[in-house]
Amino acid sequence: MDLPRPELALVPRPRRVSTRSGRFRLDGTTRLRVTRGAEAAAKLLRALLAPATGLRLQAAADGAFVLALDPALTGLGDEGYGLTVSPKGALLRAARPAGLLRGVQTVRQLLPYEALSERPVRGVPWELPAVEITDVPRHAWRGSMLDVARHFQPVSYLRRYVDLLALHKLNVFHLHLTDDQGWRMPVAAYPRLTEVGGRRPESMAGPAGSDRFDGVPHVGAYTRAELRELVAYAAERGVSVLPETGVPGHVRAALAAHPELGTDPARRLDVWTRWGVCENVLGTDDHVLDFFRTVLDEVMDVFPSPYVHIGGDECPTAEWERSPAARARAAREGLPGPRALHPWFIARMAEHLVRAGRRPVVWAENGVTLPLDCTVMSWREPGHGHAAAERGHQVVHTDHRATYFDYARGHGPQEPPAQPGAVVDLRAVYGVDLAPPTRDPAAASRVLGAQGQLWTEFVRTPAHIEYLTYPRLCALAERVWDGTSGWRDFAARLAGHRARLDALNVPHADPPATVPVPPRVGGLR
Ligand code: ACM
Repeated sequence: MDLPRPELALVPRPRRVSTRSGRFRLDGTTRLRVTRGAEAAAKLLRALLAPATGLRLQAAADGAFVLALDPALTGLGDEGYGLTVSPKGALLRAARPAGLLRGVQTVRQLLPYEALSERPVRGVPWELPAVEITDVPRHAWRGSMLDVARHFQPVSYLRRYVDLLALHKLNVFHLHLTDDQGWRMPVAAYPRLTEVGGRRPESMAGPAGSDRFDGVPHVGAYTRAELRELVAYAAERGVSVLPETGVPGHVRAALAAHPELGTDPARRLDVWTRWGVCENVLGTDDHVLDFFRTVLDEVMDVFPSPYVHIGGDECPTAEWERSPAARARAAREGLPGPRALHPWFIARMAEHLVRAGRRPVVWAENGVTLPLDCTVMSWREPGHGHAAAERGHQVVHTDHRATYFDYARGHGPQEPPAQPGAVVDLRAVYGVDLAPPTRDPAAASRVLGAQGQLWTEFVRTPAHIEYLTYPRLCALAERVWDGTSGWRDFAARLAGHRARLDALNVPHADPPATVPVPPRVGGLR
């Protein structure tokens, strides 16, 4: 199948593309000229193309395919690149290594879609169309979150997940590592976190409030070596892994392992088998803060990401209101009451990260109670993100109505069980609100970008992950990379891009059109 021209069905769309006549053929004689600093891009290009094409792309000083790092190039930023293909050769240039990695993905997309196959393909001429591309992303933060706490996924799958992010020029893989229903992050000082917190005897069948359980144990945790290997694998693809170990709510698995962290140390809790918002939260004594500082030290040791996520969402305060120790802590800290222990706790964790040179990220609303060095993920309303940016926070848009892929893709009864709430169809994702909050350029510059979210209460398998993620993540990737071409142009390119998803065995069928049913209100967890 010939992909449509002139737009070449590239997803996301490059900033500027002009097509020329002719093609450059890659074959067993094609050599790469790799300038200093471009070695990682050459390695990635070879790794991506070898399985289907068998091309070796050996290095040679007179190679017709040039990968060049040129720090003197201007206007390309950290991730931009230029690509010129003529019948005689190809030149991929960037000012920074990450730009070359993005350009490698464009080269891959310009080849016949069979080049993306994981198996050898014979009889396809591996030709690049002659083209001139200059490409720079609009947004610096282009992410995707996967919840591996509710349902664990092995690192072997996470590598594929990262590959698919990189194909779409996404650059942040947000790994949600801990929650009420499971603790997956190894912490050497506290092995019970994964030994006890990494397993639950069964899971609720159906949405929050259901009285049915599946009777199936669920177990899983990573080793440090696995996570380090994942970080390195992602880095080779220009993807940063953002770890999240959330506090002070969503901690029931930690409380099961360490009851002394709770508001009632004598109480024994199990790892939660239910879905919904759990009322158990962390205690506020010094030893609890110290425990989670140690957790964050371990997180920072494994994950070099400049950003570290500390949760912060859905923290009921009833336990603090009942707890004499928490009330006394609030009074000692001069807080107006136990509710204010929530931002107080987050601020303590945030300052620990900042002291270590990292940037804390928090699920939050307008950020009104948070230190300004917290980056806000505004998940309830886009307006919260705008307000937070105006206050001085960096913001990543994560509006649930546009970016939550655990919400159904369509209205039809054939859709698998999903988070009750709004339908998030492809157009809703494409419509994600990235508008700068005001005409104030400083506030606008604090809007870093957006990311998709997949919470996995109902999602056990990689196949289901991908069913929910694609093609919605393609729409998000398009919006955060360029996002100026309009829906019709994107839809036309997506039609061609689907051949690539097929070659990678990624499901992408749109749900059949059905009569919309009114969304249920109050659908947030
Ligand atoms: C969230 O959806 N609880 C961030």
